Amino acid sequence: MINTSYYKDLTKMNTFGMKVKARCFIEYDSVADLVDIEFGELARPVLHIGGGSNLLFTDDFKGTVLHSRIDFIEILDEGQNNPEGQVLVSVGAGVVFDDFCAWAAKEGLWGVENLSHIPGEVGASAVQNIGAYGVEVKDVIRKVYCYDTVEEEFVHFEVSECGYAYRDSIFKNPEIKGRYIVTHVLFALSKQPRPMLDYGHLKEAVTEAAAPSCGSDNQSLTPALIRKTIIRIRKEKLPEPSVMGSAGSFFKNPVVPMEQFVRIEAAAKAEHGADYKVPHYLLPDDMVKIPAAWMIEQCGWKGRRSGGAAVYEKQPLVIVNYTGEAYPEEIVGLERRIMTSVRDRFGVELCPEVEHI
Ligand code: EPU
Repeated sequence: MINTSYYKDLTKMNTFGMKVKARCFIEYDSVADLVDIEFGELARPVLHIGGGSNLLFTDDFKGTVLHSRIDFIEILDEGQNNPEGQVLVSVGAGVVFDDFCAWAAKEGLWGVENLSHIPGEVGASAVQNIGAYGVEVKDVIRKVYCYDTVEEEFVHFEVSECGYAYRDSIFKNPEIKGRYIVTHVLFALSKQPRPMLDYGHLKEAVTEAAAPSCGSDNQSLTPALIRKTIIRIRKEKLPEPSVMGSAGSFFKNPVVPMEQFVRIEAAAKAEHGADYKVPHYLLPDDMVKIPAAWMIEQCGWKGRRSGGAAVYEKQPLVIVNYTGEAYPEEIVGLERRIMTSVRDRFGVELCPEVEHI
């Protein structure tokens, strides 16, 4: 079925809770419905949304917003028919990503437990290459199935063709953005224990959550236990979209050359003492990733309010709709001021992760 509505209120369709409307809103239930949509006739521009968890609507949307409700989860191969014994699961683009994680944990399948509780839907996860706690969705994607709205045909991309990088893929490339609509994604999960616990203090947190008799050896861990721990950590650090609007991390973590990191660390040591360490992750080619959260906190933004918007007190990488009534201009104003402070203090250009519409 295809549902079309006009001047649709999008407040509940973007996790920031911006009170905006779309001139035309079309929701479809199946691949067959998608083909029936006359793309040439739609009011432009056309925007396909998922859970609206990575968007900032800065105004009413003057074109057409599309939303998929293709919502199946189907095991295609239990592992008997492929050499690596992977369990191949096909998942509709409209499935809430965390519902997929919950399903996988219940089935005892490994691969997406670290991605638990990330807001958004499966189609958008493959576009955005969502990631958390040392795992990116590209690590478990095999193929991305799409509808090509230009050639009007179904196509698929092997994971190697998707151009995946940190929160990036070919689907975000301005030249083809919007051309391909993800219909479903093929994931490769595993029945074999594959705990990924190297991020921060995750291993300690999981060990603590395990029954005292268990410990954290691979045999006693389950995807359900890791999922439970990740959800607890996320709830402690990040705002619940149902309680306070946000789009998760507002900025990407910047990557700088080693010599710039050394300068930043020397300045931090001069300020905080010789033992002070700047949090960072070493990358190939002498590059260093620095948590944007640290930079924003150092600039004094943590917990600060500006009209209806605020920098979240527990994780300054997140800008929140503090009052529930924030105007887009207030969010954008805060974003600009944060970017200016970080530029002035560290010489680093923060890049928003959130897409501005
Ligand atoms: N930090 C501070 N102050 C704070 C919070 C954090 O200085 O108040 C520093 C600490 O050094 C901490 C480091 O930042 O160790 C990293 O913090 P965290 O583990 O919370 O991760 P992040 O790098 O800030 C990224 C993702 C999150 C994801 C977490 C966990 C990006 C842009 N964000 O945040 O993703 O949940 O790692 O893996 O890469 C999202 O994309 O919406 C999102 C929430």
